[in-house]
Amino acid sequence: MRGRARFLAAAAALVAGAAWGQAREGREIFTNPGKGNCIACHQVPEGSGPAVRADVGPRLDAARLKGWGRARLREFLDDPMRANPDTVMPPYGRHRLLDAREIEQLIDYLHALP
Ligand code: HEC
Repeated sequence: MRGRARFLAAAAALVAGAAWGQAREGREIFTNPGKGNCIACHQVPEGSGPAVRADVGPRLDAARLKGWGRARLREFLDDPMRANPDTVMPPYGRHRLLDAREIEQLIDYLHALP
């Protein structure tokens, strides 16, 4: 029984590690002023990115992003103006600020947020 519990704990740690591995590039895009610069407007949970005071957009975390599957996030990051024509959030895909791969990496990062 104890061996099985230990095995499950190790497997869970591996899965969590893999998720963060793919999210690392996304975190770089999220914080880089020359890329997404998302931290200009969004806070993330402590330990997931730099502590910033930005509050133009909502704090992004697992609770906030509940229900945001990959397709919905992809569409939103492509052009948030489709959801809200008055938003100040840039249309990253439509204006080619980020390419498709970078948007996928951002989604990995957002889905790894606690
Ligand atoms: C100039 C400010 C600004 C920047 C930069 C910005 N956002 Fe936003 N974001 C907002 C605002 C404001 C909202 C609230 C929705 C709206 O305006 O319609 C929002 C909403 C969101 C949401 C939806 C959350 C929800 O529950 O409504 C996500 C996800 C998101 N942003 C991710 C990002 C990511 C990832 C980046 C970087 C690639 C980014 N944002 C850059 C301002 C910004």
